[in-house]
Amino acid sequence: MVQLSNLLLGTFALASGTPLTRNDLKACLEDAISGDADRAQFPAEKSFITNDVKYFNLNLKHQPAAVMYPENQEQVAEVVKCAAKYDKKVQARAGGRDFINKCLGGADDAVVVDLKDLNALEVNQRSWMATVGPGNKLRNLIEGLNKNGKRFLPHGVSPTVGVGGHLMVGGLGLATRQHGLSIDLLEQIEVVLANDTIAIASEKRNSDLFFAPPYVELAQLELKTLPEPKEIVLFQYNFTSENPTDISEALKAYHQVMRDANLPRNLGASSSLTRRTFFINGGFFGSDVEYKTLNLEGRLPKMTAKRVVPRTSYIDFFNDIMQSASSFPDAANMYNKDTVVTPGTMPANSTIDAFVDHITTADDGEAGWSFVFDLYGGASNDVAKGGKAFPHRDLIYTLSAATTSDGQTSKAAEESIDTAFLKLQGNRPDRYLSYVGVPNYKLKNAQAMYWGSNLARLRKIKSQYDPSDLFSTPQNVKP
Ligand SMILES: *[C@@H]1O[C@H](CO)[C@@H](O)[C@H](O)[C@H]1NC(C)=O
Ligand SMILES: *[C@@H]1O[C@H](CO)[C@@H](O)[C@H](O)[C@H]1NC(C)=O
Ligand SMILES: *[C@@H]1O[C@H](CO)[C@@H](O)[C@H](O)[C@H]1NC(C)=O
Repeated sequence: MVQLSNLLLGTFALASGTPLTRNDLKACLEDAISGDADRAQFPAEKSFITNDVKYFNLNLKHQPAAVMYPENQEQVAEVVKCAAKYDKKVQARAGGRDFINKCLGGADDAVVVDLKDLNALEVNQRSWMATVGPGNKLRNLIEGLNKNGKRFLPHGVSPTVGVGGHLMVGGLGLATRQHGLSIDLLEQIEVVLANDTIAIASEKRNSDLFFAPPYVELAQLELKTLPEPKEIVLFQYNFTSENPTDISEALKAYHQVMRDANLPRNLGASSSLTRRTFFINGGFFGSDVEYKTLNLEGRLPKMTAKRVVPRTSYIDFFNDIMQSASSFPDAANMYNKDTVVTPGTMPANSTIDAFVDHITTADDGEAGWSFVFDLYGGASNDVAKGGKAFPHRDLIYTLSAATTSDGQTSKAAEESIDTAFLKLQGNRPDRYLSYVGVPNYKLKNAQAMYWGSNLARLRKIKSQYDPSDLFSTPQNVKP
């Protein structure tokens, strides 16, 4: 589509003798940011790739037509207008921590709108509503809410994730079982539409738009905040062994914990599995005494190491958790995949054995890999499936995998991961959906996998607000 229209423009230019070249897009974009040269970067500039494009996944090197750094929503709207005029796709980038580089459009020649300077962060001291620019990173959000009245809200644990992108995919995190997803606390958004209009949306106003923020450029968010938890028990339990049977036993025992319908909501945990270690990292948002009554340690036999720190403050807890999360590289050749597990699709013990047998013995193409089991449920399942675009309101956990390698990720490494998922799914992938926050570039039928029963409504809203698919990536909902 893009190529065809470029061709047509080219023909027109030849016929009329007025060359309609890239310079016109460039001039338009430069005007859009009031001639402030630093806010408009183009491929001809020497440091374009290292300073502006900044690939997160080095396997997928799409080259944008421009990377723009607008300073307010009006400039975002002007940039959108130029891109539409010159038939370029537009993609917003908040933190850029995106496994398939869809923040660069997921294809060549997009106009990337980097939102780093839309970074307002204020907390109203009476209503406790936070006004948050989408360009804030999670670390800024945590620290800003803490400084402005010891407030917090549920969200993920990677400090460099941008708030805008995080909200677009839902916003899952360690406090999700108790308080829901970030979007469950979202009250209002200010957005730039494909026709370069700035609009405000909430449950009451433009409610379709509020339901489907993936079709817009986010400019500002209004979020409810909560008082910080007073004390948290930080816990880490490790199971390290050369023997895959021990790893499998630990994973089966942990599945018994995760499937427990009486598990308290103030428990949040993420666990990581590598060849010789399974470890659980988490927080209990309450007192040491209450934590002990859970008897987690009794239910998770044969641990090889543990660290339990009661009475941790919220900010210390998050700093600790973010430190382990930030061990993930800033850029790498990577391959990622994800699946969503519900009470109806929890793997049987024999399935877990087959999964562990595969990951500990298969040829992994020499790539470094890990699987992460993130425990959810609780409050995130209180919202109806059709209440927000995020469709997974019957979660027990999400399983995601990451491999990183030196140089292009090999076919063997990708296939080993793909097979591991099939094993855990008992060879029934048709029973499982995926979480859009861990996208996989090969995923078939991606829109249905990510949005489940909400896809039809999302498609309808997309057709209304962005009929020409201006805000486009290979896997977004199409009009
Ligand atoms: C699965 O394994 C766990 C841990 O060994 C055990 O407690 C549980 O009873 C097993 N479930 C079944 C159905 O055998
Ligand atoms: C558990 O294992 C992880 C990963 O190897 C390590 O970073 C952490 O320090 C270990 N924790 C304990 C308590 O040994
Ligand atoms: C832009 O699109 C919105 C949503 O479809 C519509 O309500 C609005 O009237 C449009 N604005 C203009 C100037 O066309």
